[in-house]
Amino acid sequence: MSENPKDTAVTLPAQSDGATLTKDAAPGETLLKVTGLQKHFPIKKGLLQRQVGAVHAVDGIDFEVRAGETLGVVGESGCGKSTMGRLITRLLEPTGGKVEFEGKDITHLGVSGMRPLRRDVQMIFQDPYSSLNPRHTIGTIVGAPFKLQGVEPEGGIKKEVQRLLSVVGLNPEHYNRYPHEFSGGQRQRIGIARALALNPKLVVADEPVSALDVSIQAQVVNLLDDLQQELGLTYVIIAHDLSVVRHVSDRIAVMYLGKIVELADRESLYRAPMHPYTKALMSAVPIPDPRRKNAKSERILLKGDVPSPISPPSGCRFHTRCWKATQICTTTEPKLVALKPGQQVACHHPENFEDQAPQDTVLLTMAKEAAELVADEVLAESAETSAAVAAEVAETTEAAEATETAGAEATETAEADVTPAAESQESTDK
Ligand SMILES: Nc1ncnc2c1ncn2[C@@H]1O[C@H](COP(=O)(O)OP(=O)(O)OP(=O)(O)O)[C@@H](O)[C@H]1O
Ligand code: SF4
Ligand SMILES: [Mg+2]
Repeated sequence: MSENPKDTAVTLPAQSDGATLTKDAAPGETLLKVTGLQKHFPIKKGLLQRQVGAVHAVDGIDFEVRAGETLGVVGESGCGKSTMGRLITRLLEPTGGKVEFEGKDITHLGVSGMRPLRRDVQMIFQDPYSSLNPRHTIGTIVGAPFKLQGVEPEGGIKKEVQRLLSVVGLNPEHYNRYPHEFSGGQRQRIGIARALALNPKLVVADEPVSALDVSIQAQVVNLLDDLQQELGLTYVIIAHDLSVVRHVSDRIAVMYLGKIVELADRESLYRAPMHPYTKALMSAVPIPDPRRKNAKSERILLKGDVPSPISPPSGCRFHTRCWKATQICTTTEPKLVALKPGQQVACHHPENFEDQAPQDTVLLTMAKEAAELVADEVLAESAETSAAVAAEVAETTEAAEATETAGAEATETAEADVTPAAESQESTDK
């Protein structure tokens, strides 16, 4: 493995530029609020480029992010997670709805209006290979935000960049090296250092670890966690499965086809998920559904692909794949409502709660075939991946604690990892 668990023993400086002191929103207060947010990408055809339709990538979502928390966002590929991330960081212009940051409406701010916000809100991208310019040294890459914002840190850019590199567990001496000289996990650390350069308040991380090997995933997740503690950061962490976000999130939003279908505290979500889709994502969970006989032995494996976001299904968008769907699901869109404290769900027939449409009892024909039995091996495999991440997180946390007093040693380890051997090991891992 190209990275050692000790990498996560982050060499945090005693004073982190007073980042925690400059926060405006107190912990727990709303930092970001999103109301009815939409992004429809137009589909154009012909010589005249007439609009013939639109991809409903994000189609009316409401949520808030509280200062100091981590909001995890999960959902299958194409459900609109990245688009949502780009909307809240205002890298994309919303089609509709509202985005408020620290109480200020930022939905349609122009370039100059957005400039101060660019310091406060940063994004970390999925692919540590393509998100770093191969022609630039990491010194240039991590120092770019200062130049873009016209900020001269105390002691100069170079010194500050070197400090940031050591904060993320990299060797400051590697300032002049190029991205290709680093392993995947280390490149993601470079991306994190760049995101932290301007002391942001909110960091949106879009699949920050999914391109990495499982054990390296845990190290990067741990690093994000450590940095949050130290710098008082607020995170929105996007992932396509629940195993990554379960260890880091305070609350989790589950997305399906441009909508949030469940938004809940982590504990509630894992203990008693209420939306059938959330339950499906946790496919190792049995279905305790009285509507179906022999339910005890069943596991959920969704059949079929996600429908096209160009013409999403009517009513509840999940009805074409839901094993609980009834007539009302095809006609009436369920609203996202708080059915329990700290748990919002959009479903007529939620799990672990009283039926919201008890009059509608006849299952759709397709619902009877929507889920299928999952072989034990598949379950074992999914449980194994989850356990591997959990074990790594526990292990690396212990390692981090054990080496707390030997931060410099960790940087040394990171340095030792930057070898061609480590690089090739990592690429064969993939
Ligand atoms: N610039 C664009 N123009 C047109 N359609 C787009 C654009 N960006 C995204 N989409 C579409 O919007 C939908 C949502 O895409 P998005 O990338 O947000 O999904 P995602 O949940 O991040 O998926 P993944 O897990 O694969 O990253 C998809 O159908 C995608 O094809
Ligand atoms: S039961 Fe109906 S409303 Fe609930 S998720 Fe299934 S299709 Fe949607
Ligand atoms: Mg994405």
